[in-house]
Amino acid sequence: MIFGQPLAVGDLVLKNRLVMVPIATGRADERGHVTQRLCEHYAARARRGYLGLVECGHHFVCDEGRATSRQASIAHDDDIESLKLEAAAVHAEGTPVFVQLSHAGSATTKALTGTLPLAPSAVTCPGAKVGHPLPRPMDAEDIARVPSLFSAAARRARMAGFDGVEIHAAHGYLLDQFLSPLTNHRRDSYGGPLENRARLLVEVVSAVRAELPSGYPVSVRLGGCDYLSGGNTIADAVALARLVEAAGAGLISVSGGMCYYGRPGLEDTPGWFADSSTPIRSAVDVPVLLAGGIKTGAAAEELLERGACDLAGIGRAILNRPAWGKRETTKLGAARNHGATSTK
Ligand SMILES: Cc1cc2nc3c(=O)[nH]c(=O)nc-3n(C[C@H](O)[C@H](O)[C@H](O)COP(=O)(O)O)c2cc1C
Repeated sequence: MIFGQPLAVGDLVLKNRLVMVPIATGRADERGHVTQRLCEHYAARARRGYLGLVECGHHFVCDEGRATSRQASIAHDDDIESLKLEAAAVHAEGTPVFVQLSHAGSATTKALTGTLPLAPSAVTCPGAKVGHPLPRPMDAEDIARVPSLFSAAARRARMAGFDGVEIHAAHGYLLDQFLSPLTNHRRDSYGGPLENRARLLVEVVSAVRAELPSGYPVSVRLGGCDYLSGGNTIADAVALARLVEAAGAGLISVSGGMCYYGRPGLEDTPGWFADSSTPIRSAVDVPVLLAGGIKTGAAAEELLERGACDLAGIGRAILNRPAWGKRETTKLGAARNHGATSTK
């Protein structure tokens, strides 16, 4: 069985292959500071360290990149004290913890941020609500600020005690808006061919990498393929994975691009982005995480065994059942022991 085998991500060794992927909790206070309720939410899911890793839901790297009103902030130095509570709550249960860094781009509202949402082009995301106003296309100065927003957030994450960071470049948020030809219609060096559309993400990964010690884990949640007509293809996703690995990512978490995290028609197929993650895993040397529709430890083990991923990401199954980690690792452990006995 692969699930119980340790795996190194940078200098961090995960004790097994089951990961709670980011699920935004909406439990921060109005300023975005972490609350006791938010800490308890993660602690309950990490309880007694059955999971290899917990990844906390997206935290905004700047006020204009905030996606929702109760989202947690990592945008200011005075967030660090409350972020320490979040990291410590998961550590107290014997589990390492990453924090996800995010800029919503056009996936927010002026009512929330006080400013017209920013995007690569004046195009709404395919999933935007009807009537959503067009975002303001970013100028060179806007774009130049983005890598330093992410690297400052990464510095705060490390100071707060998180074991790693994840850069959110999936699900129609800002970095994904640059990646996708559906939302990036720029004619400058950040638009056009894939290498140009990936330029901002590559700059962000490089800036974050440069801010942190070399073995400190940096993950990228990659919305590589859009699974939509005219969008990025699986071949594009593979090329993007190679680019982010070369820029310094130590883990690639495969999810959807402009289709967000779901896969219509494949709702009952565990690991519904396996058609992207499998070729990505063959193309890169760093570990690959796959999430989407994995509800049991057995399904996770099956995906690990067939080489679709190195880590199995679980979202709503853990959200809905805080003790999922204990139940499924116990079941997998029992199956492993049974398997070991029966082969003698
Ligand atoms: C309520 C909710 C909040 C989510 N928040 C995030 C997030 O903050 N960052 C992220 O990358 N994905 C987020 N996701 C997507 C999940 O990480 C995951 O990819 C998705 O739920 C599919 O996996 P699952 O079928 O195991 O739930 C969220 C999903 C849900 C349902």
